[in-house]
Amino acid sequence: MAKSDWWKKSVVYQVYPRSYQDSNNDGIGDLPGLTSRLEYIKKLGADVIWLNPIYKSPDKDNGYDISDYRNIQDAYGTMSDFDEMLKKAHSLGLKIMMDLVVNHTSDQHKWFQESKKSKDNPYRDYYIWRDPVDGHEPNNWGSYFNGSTWKFDETTGQYYLHLFAEGQPDLNWENPKVRDEVWSVMKFWLDKGVDGFRMDVINLISKPAGLPDGPKADDERYADVGKAVADGHRLNEFLQEMNQKVLSKYDVMTVGEMPDSTPQDAIEYTGLDSNELNMVFQFDHVNLSPNKDIRLGKWNDEPVKLVELKKSLSKWENELDGKGWNSLYWNNHDQPRAVSRFATDDPKYRVRAAKMLGTTLQMMQGTPYVYEGEELGMTNVHYTKLSQYEDLESLNAYKEFVDDEEIVDKDSMLSYLADRTRDNARTPMQWDDSENAGFTKGKPWFELNPNYTEINAKASLDDKDSVFYYYQKLIDLRHHSDLIVYGNYEVLDIDDKEVFAYKRHYKGQTLLVISNFTDKELSRDYGQNDGELLIGNYNDDKETNLRAYESKVYLIR
Ligand code: GLC
Ligand code: CA
Repeated sequence: MAKSDWWKKSVVYQVYPRSYQDSNNDGIGDLPGLTSRLEYIKKLGADVIWLNPIYKSPDKDNGYDISDYRNIQDAYGTMSDFDEMLKKAHSLGLKIMMDLVVNHTSDQHKWFQESKKSKDNPYRDYYIWRDPVDGHEPNNWGSYFNGSTWKFDETTGQYYLHLFAEGQPDLNWENPKVRDEVWSVMKFWLDKGVDGFRMDVINLISKPAGLPDGPKADDERYADVGKAVADGHRLNEFLQEMNQKVLSKYDVMTVGEMPDSTPQDAIEYTGLDSNELNMVFQFDHVNLSPNKDIRLGKWNDEPVKLVELKKSLSKWENELDGKGWNSLYWNNHDQPRAVSRFATDDPKYRVRAAKMLGTTLQMMQGTPYVYEGEELGMTNVHYTKLSQYEDLESLNAYKEFVDDEEIVDKDSMLSYLADRTRDNARTPMQWDDSENAGFTKGKPWFELNPNYTEINAKASLDDKDSVFYYYQKLIDLRHHSDLIVYGNYEVLDIDDKEVFAYKRHYKGQTLLVISNFTDKELSRDYGQNDGELLIGNYNDDKETNLRAYESKVYLIR
């Protein structure tokens, strides 16, 4: 069917339903809650909502362990609540993009329950089962959530593969029946009228033939499974089949989450003739500043160096230009809060810094994603005790690195968790300064960030200088500018450790974007005197002068 590139001109707003709005006071966000907040999202100016999983799930990984793809999790409401949400979103001109989690299911899914019964069960081959090797796991892969990727099952004396938690067995995409099941799930939702899919860890679905050991250092217990599995040899083929059998029949938007992908991979999947996906979520910039001890991976508390950040984002901008399409994001439900991670949440600068980050990212080429609360400048929660955490990735990491292997002391690990935990993103949305921030009148499933009395949507909507209205203006600028959507990208002074400046060029016009990533007063001249100021986070313009976290955008004709 004929397709337009509306997804290139769109801005996506991500909703983590569990933490967005509770409607029935059980402390858990839900679909009617979201429905009641759609006008707010519309007011911001977003075009598409990406909804994290709302399907039936035992919730071991907050919905990323699905036990029934065609039904709604009780806590989130009913299918008719979903239909109503979709209808209202569409009536407001908002599109809904669903999360498609098909690298794995829950161990409670009917397919897995059958699969584990016996070696000759018709569903056996829906998952990846292997005999022990010398009484051990079949290979040396380590799970994303710590420990081995293999779990022994007594009933049949074999191991099953789980790249994530034990409760998330990997589907066997080599089996054509599995692929047909997935196409049918996709059609079920597309025929309801949803507008696209964000595909969870989709570049992990094709496992290497023979499942060989991955490379690992002597002091590492397990091999990095991402390196061993990502971008497998049949991935293109599977995605093309998905396109041919499903996606090509609908005018929808797709974004594939792809840990460990390179720009070259992304061009393959999102390239103009590839017939696979519209864009991918790459991880390079969010994986910056890992721990020096590679065994600890992402767990660290060092800030990102601006030059590295510029190099990373610029590489993706340059390499995909004209060949693929970027997605632009600072944070999501798996990442700490943008303002805390990439700038500062010091109350003195928070609002300016949040606007500065928004400007820097949203003026790039690609489709911007705003994570719930980012438009308020919501911050990390800064936990100090292990008991405050909820996320299984964080808890497993603490257990493995502090309790079991003793490779890091307790205080350092608590500091790393505070900086990087996914829980930072998952504290409930801050709507107002009433009890529980207007998120629920019950007991919230997860403690709120106590700063909600200051940082909340109501305060933002009442303040014309808020991050909210600034984001609204950024989005509006994009909606009215082909230069912002299509222009190509040129980074300026890449080795400047304090300022992130770049230009965009399109049909003889130039956009100049300048952001001061420090709290110092600086001076830089990129020719902004000849430009017209389109937006800036100080109300007056001091041209070559850059104040703390100042960011400004000029049009040069
Ligand atoms: C993705 C999701 C994350 C989840 C994991 C396993 O990375 O974004 O939240 O835990 O996949 O499904
Ligand atoms: Ca609820």
